[in-house]
Parts: sequence; C-alpha cells; structure tokens
Amino acid sequence: MKKLDKRNKIGIFDSGIGGITVLKEIIKILPNEDYIYYSDSKNNPYGDRTDEEIKQLCDNIVKYLINKNCKVIVIACNTASSKAADFLRKKYSEMTFIAIEPAYKMVHDYAYEKPTLVMATKGTIESEKFNLLLKKYDNHKTYLLPCVGLADRIENGDKEEIKKYLIENIANYKGKVENVVLGCTHYPLIIEEIKEILGQVEFFNGAPNLAKHLKDILEEKGLLNDIGNGKIEFKDSQNLKEKEEKFFKILEEKL
Ligand code: DGL
Repeated sequence: MKKLDKRNKIGIFDSGIGGITVLKEIIKILPNEDYIYYSDSKNNPYGDRTDEEIKQLCDNIVKYLINKNCKVIVIACNTASSKAADFLRKKYSEMTFIAIEPAYKMVHDYAYEKPTLVMATKGTIESEKFNLLLKKYDNHKTYLLPCVGLADRIENGDKEEIKKYLIENIANYKGKVENVVLGCTHYPLIIEEIKEILGQVEFFNGAPNLAKHLKDILEEKGLLNDIGNGKIEFKDSQNLKEKEEKFFKILEEKL
C-alpha cells in the first residue's frame, strides 16, 4: 500500500468564502485529495487594502497552512494573487503556489473579437500584474470595472443588496459587451444575477484551468493522492461558526 507523506493536504485560501468557486473546480478533478480551506473574514475585503497589508496577511495564512502540512497552496483570491504571489514564491521557495488570475488570456484565445467587461476588485485592476496581462492580450474592446464593495455584498449574501449594486454598476454595459471576465473568485457565485442584468453573455472564469494546472503539477511532482478520501477542513480567521456553515452549504449546492 502506498505510504502517505505527512505533508499531504492541499491548502487553499481567500479573503472569505469566494474561493469556494475555485475549490469546487479542483474537487471535480481531484476528488481524492484532502483539503484545508482558509477564509480570512477578519481582514476582508482585500480589494481596497495596500500591497504591504495584503502581503502581510497572506504571509500569516501561508505560515498557518504550512504548519497544517500542506504540500501545495492555492491562492484562490485574485487580489492576493496579483499583489502577493511573487512575494510568497520568493519567501517560501520550497513551497509550490498555484495562483488564480483573471481569465483575460482566455478571451484572447477564444473570443478576441468581442467587446469585453472585466469585473474585479480595485486592487486587482490597479495591480501591475493585471496590467501586464492586459497589455499582452489587449483586444482593444475592453472595459475595466473595479467593483468596489461587490465582494463584501456577496460575502454577506444579501440578494437584494447584490441586485441593487449590479443595477447601479453594470446595467449600462447591457448590449455593449458580450464577454464578461469574472476577475474575483466571489463573482461566479452571482452569475445568474449578472445574466439577469446583462442578458446572454459569455463568462470567463480562470478556476477550471487552474484546477487542471494544479493536477498537472501534482502529477509532475509525484504528489498526487489517489487513495485519500476527499476530506475538507475549514478554518476562518475569526472562527465564525456561521461562516463555516455557509461554506459547507454553498459547497454542497455548487457541487
Ligand atoms: N475573492 C477575492 C478576489 O478574488 C477578493 C475579495 C475581496 O476581499 O475584496 O479578488
């Protein structure tokens, strides 16, 4: 029987529960892995924080996940990826990090001709990393929309508030855009609500490709766990019971 290494979990984190949209794509193709999900509710939203603050917050989470015996860490937050991934990779050179980013390259590869709306946090849209991506794959028909406050509303789950926000902030793109890049891991949770406002648009989400990439990396490194039982642990930085309940509820629904 294959002997399991002590460092055998996949660590995954976000500022809140948005990273579920990444975790669910990963579980689809890696059902036998064991996971530990970290939600930083104490410090969210990350979208309006400075680079230094985000690096510090991510550093603390990574320390926690390393202590919990993670073999790989998935940064399931676009804001954290754009501001802290390089820093974390340098600081923890022994650890493998897989980082989500807005799926703007997918637009370039599959729907280059079509007008595109990129929705993301202010932090992601202003980041150097995202601007390099934009420069490289620019289709010159792209609107950038920093959705200040949208991730918080999704985190709080108030449907009326979300609807009101979308009417006020994206309704004027109706008929103008055909592609929507979901550049924050919270946004795939409100695809239906976005469709209600924008009508039939094509969504671009980086999570399915990230999951495939993660699987390739684990295979390459001989780190795949094919005899585990898909256990999922949840940790919230405030130890909020209701966060945990919400997390597992959404995870079940979305799976
Ligand atoms: N879910 C996060 C992202 O992908 C950030 C939300 C926030 O805390 O502002 O950017």
